[in-house]
Amino acid sequence: MTIESDARNVVLTGFMGTGKTSVAREVARRLGWPFVDMDLIIQARLGMPIDKIFARRGEAFFREHERALCRELSARRGLVVATGGGTLIPKENRATLGRSGLLICLTCEVEEILRRLAGAGDRPLLATANRRRRIEELLARRAAAYARIPHQIDTTRLTVEEVASEVIELLDRGAGER
Ligand code: S3P
Repeated sequence: MTIESDARNVVLTGFMGTGKTSVAREVARRLGWPFVDMDLIIQARLGMPIDKIFARRGEAFFREHERALCRELSARRGLVVATGGGTLIPKENRATLGRSGLLICLTCEVEEILRRLAGAGDRPLLATANRRRRIEELLARRAAAYARIPHQIDTTRLTVEEVASEVIELLDRGAGER
């Protein structure tokens, strides 16, 4: 059993394909802290994969669950959290999770996002003929919200291990402490 530490949370966010889940898993492993994947929790609670949630209940319903889960996780400590790509776009969610710990936004160039997501058919927002255009549109729409997250790591040319080291370095430097 892993004991939750009373340290602040580490929350990784960023667009689809930036490596949130893989990096959070690695950071959690190195720190010995619990790893929490918000998409997995929501899927488990609703008993269906994200694309079915979007298709059957609509995006707004999914966003409502994300919002509630942000509140829930912000009451806990010592977690390494991977959000969904759209979770911290609303200001309210950034504020909620930001109070619980260190927020880090992972970024990546479009070309590499396309490469990383090439085999993935489970992203409802990318279910379109022209993925590149869709990604560029979403990134443009979300750019200002992502940019408001104080710590950014460009993962385009880094391995999961390298990004995890940068995250832990930020944490060790006391980033995000109040
Ligand atoms: C979304 C990203 C997905 C998932 C959902 C919506 C988004 O998570 O939450 O499909 O709005 O960017 P990943 O970023 O983990 O793929």
